[in-house]
Amino acid sequence: MILSPEQVSTFFKAHWTVRKYKNFKMPVEHLDVILEAAQRAPTDATAQMYSFVRLTDPVLRKQIADLSTNPHIETASESFIICADVFRLEQILKTYDFEPASIPNIAIHFGIGDAVLAGQSMLIAAEMLGYRGCWIGGLINAPNEISELIQLPEGCFPFAALTIGVPDEEPVHRPRLPRNQVVHENTYRKPSAEELKIGAEQMASITARGNWAQTLARYFAKGGGMEAREVKMKEFLQKMIYRGK
Ligand SMILES: Cc1cc2nc3c(=O)[nH]c(=O)nc-3n(C[C@H](O)[C@H](O)[C@H](O)COP(=O)(O)O)c2cc1C
Repeated sequence: MILSPEQVSTFFKAHWTVRKYKNFKMPVEHLDVILEAAQRAPTDATAQMYSFVRLTDPVLRKQIADLSTNPHIETASESFIICADVFRLEQILKTYDFEPASIPNIAIHFGIGDAVLAGQSMLIAAEMLGYRGCWIGGLINAPNEISELIQLPEGCFPFAALTIGVPDEEPVHRPRLPRNQVVHENTYRKPSAEELKIGAEQMASITARGNWAQTLARYFAKGGGMEAREVKMKEFLQKMIYRGK
């Protein structure tokens, strides 16, 4: 099926992240086509280094909602943990008497790439059916605890969660940076300070205080929230992916 540029534009302009959902059970045929879309995503080396853990147990949902500080994991029609999965690949190799290579950095590259592509295909399929959703990187607040709860084996990495449901909030259209700051032609063009400020102003409406740089700093600047998570992430990757290598 070929759509017109206007139809494609209209579809993608209607993307918005939703964190509050109606109490709605997704019909199985919808779930089926969403999962089919995920599995049809392009995959590096056709290796499919991803796994989804579908959360159907309300107690487990609540625990992961609390650990990730994203309550909609509990209330969405469907909630998934989207994992980069090298474990299964290694098992295939071992089953056929090959010794898996020690390539943890390559594994992260393949696994996260594949997991993101499959997860986003899932979300796009859901949006085509009229649902909306939310990616949840908040798993990095508690990667160890969440992995234990869903019994992930070594080599499996919970990249993010994804919730899908029927919106119970008004649509919000969140801006993006000017296109000429994110699309480069042939060579990378470094933005000037002036351009960076124009971009930050364009993003100001998503912040409470109208200062996007300040919002970014709360996460990513020295003293921001990600420093503590970096320590946790390093320990977690060491245990689950590097495994002493
Ligand atoms: C990898 C990833 C992780 C995210 N993590 C969270 C999260 O933990 N909690 C949340 O409320 N939103 C999360 N989001 C949603 C973003 O905040 C949202 O996509 C962004 O603000 C842009 O808004 P829009 O999708 O409505 O255009 C995440 C999005 C991505 C792609």
